[in-house]
Amino acid sequence: MQLNNYIDGAWQEVDAGTYTAVINPATGDEIAQVILSTTEDIALAVEAAKRAQKEWALVPAPKRADYLYEIGRLMKERKEHLSQVLTTEMGKVIEEARGEVQEGIDMAFYMAGEGRRLVGETVPSELQNKFAMSVRAPIGVVGLITPWNFPVAIATWKSFPAIVAGNTFIWKPATETPMMAYEMALIFEEVGLPAGVANIVFGSGADVGTAMIEHPDIRVISFTGSTETGRHVAETGGRHLKKVSLEMGGKNAVIVMDDADIDLAVEGILWSAFGTAGQRCTACSRVIVHKDVKEELEQKLLTQMADLTIGNGLDETVKIGPVINGKALKKISSYIDVGKEEGAKLLAGGRILRDGDLGKGHYFEPTLFTDVKWDSRLAQEEIFGPVVSLIEVTSLEEAIEVNNSVQYGLSSSIFSQDVNKVFQAQRDLDTGIVYVNAGTTGAEIHLPFGGTKGTGNGHRDSGVAALDVFTEWKSVYVDFSGTLQRAQIDNS
Ligand code: UN1
Repeated sequence: MQLNNYIDGAWQEVDAGTYTAVINPATGDEIAQVILSTTEDIALAVEAAKRAQKEWALVPAPKRADYLYEIGRLMKERKEHLSQVLTTEMGKVIEEARGEVQEGIDMAFYMAGEGRRLVGETVPSELQNKFAMSVRAPIGVVGLITPWNFPVAIATWKSFPAIVAGNTFIWKPATETPMMAYEMALIFEEVGLPAGVANIVFGSGADVGTAMIEHPDIRVISFTGSTETGRHVAETGGRHLKKVSLEMGGKNAVIVMDDADIDLAVEGILWSAFGTAGQRCTACSRVIVHKDVKEELEQKLLTQMADLTIGNGLDETVKIGPVINGKALKKISSYIDVGKEEGAKLLAGGRILRDGDLGKGHYFEPTLFTDVKWDSRLAQEEIFGPVVSLIEVTSLEEAIEVNNSVQYGLSSSIFSQDVNKVFQAQRDLDTGIVYVNAGTTGAEIHLPFGGTKGTGNGHRDSGVAALDVFTEWKSVYVDFSGTLQRAQIDNS
């Protein structure tokens, strides 16, 4: 199967193109080939998106939303199929794939509701017989660059608010996971989304991503990916005075206090550290534990980790699937050496699984380090794999300080039964998302998703906040006095 671009409501015909293989990370099998597009393909897509946008912006928002209801309905109908495709190309276990598709469905219905709100303000004017209000105006053509770890959910966080607000989009999915984008294009086509509203261009970040960021007619770039690439996107986008919304790395921590329900904390840690094989931006990769409960927590984590079955995520009994590719395996492995060199104690895991069928895919053992120093590389750098570092502390204040010591600020969590500690923590933890008595993952689509410091640049995906990325505020004054009334001068 060869995947080609979807531009202007049609599948692009390709005479001589360059394709790259799409690999199932669980088996190493090639499952498709995807086109590597060029700057010219972006130019074509932008032309189509520009043509479509004027008319699309004039479709009443509740009518634009009707397409989203249909998209949501079809996604729901195809939930199982989409989930299977997702697991096959990305590797996460099927239960989690179903969760991710559900996240996309939720986003469709939620953003469809926004079609009947898109709320602005009406405020009194300081002058008589004058009306003042603000409305959300669409921006135009927007560019969406999405990662492989949540190939459908993150795309819906960006594309659905974009179109309900009256924009048209160019979407560049990760080359590792183009099949979800293909499936979504089929759905866009089937619901009859007008040509040019949704355009999908496959290719590398260096070529297609750069072409998008540099194209003068793409006015917004919404990007999720690494902090390194995000910085480049912001720099280049900044030169073009684009609005750039970035969602980048994380080094998220679970804090376990001495009064915590330890069994619950263990469950929360395992789920948020090893779900999606640790490849969530929100994954727990540090556990900051009070010294009085450290040993108990370690023992309980070890016992439960021994039960985590590893394998192909299509098997319903498997708990941990593969990581995305060989490069990821190498990077994760390199951190095992880093940890050992830094004097951390490896309690479990730490190896690439090479035996039998597992050897054909990209599997890494769930890994637990303890006695990790808060300022070591292991505790500071994003690994993006199933590796957790335990850091011992003696107080809540110290725990918060350690949590906040990293360059990232996406998600954090505290396990405690003490309401005072909990409220202090939610105030002082410097992340964009805080969980109490739950792990670091599990964001719901109707609240803002994003982080502080090296994780973001002040924008948010999801929730109503997503609309801020894809709209301009327009303030409208209607003077019905029939006279010239000067603000700040007359009436003062
Ligand atoms: C991501 O890790 O990039 O909260 C997205 C969560 C999911 C989304 C994660 N709902 O973990």
